[in-house]
Amino acid sequence: MIKAKIITDKHFKLDTVDPRIFGSFIEHLGRAVYGGIYEKGSSLSDERGFRKDTLELIKEIDVPIVRYPGGNFVSAYNWEDSVGPVNERPKRAELAWQVIENNEFGLNEFMDWSKIANTSPMMAVNLGTRGIDAARNVIEYCNFKGGTYYSDLRKKHGYSDPHNIKLWCLGNEMDGPWQIGHKSADEYGALAWETGKAMRAVDPSIELVACGSSGLMMPTFGEWEATVLDHCYDTVDYLSMHTYYNNFADDSADFLANTLNMDDFIKSVIATCDYVKGKKHSKKKINISFDEWNVWYHSNEADKKLEKWTHAPHQLEDVYNLEDALLVGGMLITLLNHCDRVKIACLAQLVNVIAPIMTSGNSAWRQTIFYPYMHASRYGRGLVLNSIIDSPKYDSKNYTDVPYLESCLVWNEEERAVTIFAVNKSFTDEMTVTCDLRQFEGLKVTEHIVLTGDDLKACNTEENPEKIVPYTAKDTVCENGIVTAILPKQSWNVIRLSY
Ligand code: AHR
Repeated sequence: MIKAKIITDKHFKLDTVDPRIFGSFIEHLGRAVYGGIYEKGSSLSDERGFRKDTLELIKEIDVPIVRYPGGNFVSAYNWEDSVGPVNERPKRAELAWQVIENNEFGLNEFMDWSKIANTSPMMAVNLGTRGIDAARNVIEYCNFKGGTYYSDLRKKHGYSDPHNIKLWCLGNEMDGPWQIGHKSADEYGALAWETGKAMRAVDPSIELVACGSSGLMMPTFGEWEATVLDHCYDTVDYLSMHTYYNNFADDSADFLANTLNMDDFIKSVIATCDYVKGKKHSKKKINISFDEWNVWYHSNEADKKLEKWTHAPHQLEDVYNLEDALLVGGMLITLLNHCDRVKIACLAQLVNVIAPIMTSGNSAWRQTIFYPYMHASRYGRGLVLNSIIDSPKYDSKNYTDVPYLESCLVWNEEERAVTIFAVNKSFTDEMTVTCDLRQFEGLKVTEHIVLTGDDLKACNTEENPEKIVPYTAKDTVCENGIVTAILPKQSWNVIRLSY
């Protein structure tokens, strides 16, 4: 048994969580769209072809924003291909993932689907093969009331009201040599500035995200952020961050310690944003859009063997296990503990492609990572309290002083609730955690949800979709405002309290 303590004070307010931190991502990639959220003619779909079972699971999570249509896909995307009569839409050789895109599902279908899924779009424009012109046209199509070529075209396509899309990404991972239309930081920064200027001229109410590095490992990391922001600081609101972790080394202790890397990454990008702020003597603060994050590696070998130029292949179909859920939980905690600067985040992705939700022709099911994501989205809205974690620590191959306990506290004043999210990273010991919350008079335990299991490699599959599911712990107490909980070894925990 190990012991840990969470030390906090209700006056130590970090910030209110922007609900968009619980966003996700649908790219035209693999079976995310086709066979994922959309399957025309299936008995599981509605008359428009939207998969009802997938929609139900998405609503269960409560996903506030969905990034679309890419990803790498967006960098060679012609948005015009995806609107108008379906039978007139062109089939394209999709270069990023080397598949055939038939454009049966496009921009307007996505907007219809978003409404039913109770979510808002986060749209990306193509700054790879295209630029200012396509971006100003797509925003005129989406957001202009009427009386212009593109807004009238939207009306002709059956959408009399503008879509009013508020959040736009200026391209995707433009620092990556794999990106179609890859650019240097100077080239991209200048283009982002001019594109943002034109888009804002069409609709001044939008918010814009500039591309940061595609990862901390990029050789241009740091310099890229500073140079890009030097160009476009005044027109953008957010800088993007992306990260994916893997356990190729099969070293679970080191794998779970990756939250330290994520934490460091966030701190470095914030420092760079603020460096440019200082340099420019600007009053404006650039916040973070962590718009791609997850575990991604299980499907890498299978993807190498895929036949090219097929439609909607089984691509990037990672099957997630318990340790992946623990890392995803830790990553959610890390994002929440930076909610003063991370305002947007997207679990990449949502369905079938490195996703919490999987489908077949017969059913949809929850992967292990579904649970921490759903819990954080449902119970993590409110105000994050700063806390000090007093926990035993371990060293792993790449990290030193990794606390066994990772945690975060969210106070929802309106609902008179406090939630503790916690991961016990020990594979051998359960952990007794205490937290003095006497300032919340009358505090009692509502529920202690636990996700754990004996086998770190256990997964949920179509045949066995409930191998790893949460249960309610019974022995958690709150006596005179002191919460005491036992976190099983290798577990994700949600301790819900109310007063
Ligand atoms: O999410 C999968 C891919 O990862 C995205 O298309 C790209 O932006 C990133 O490299």
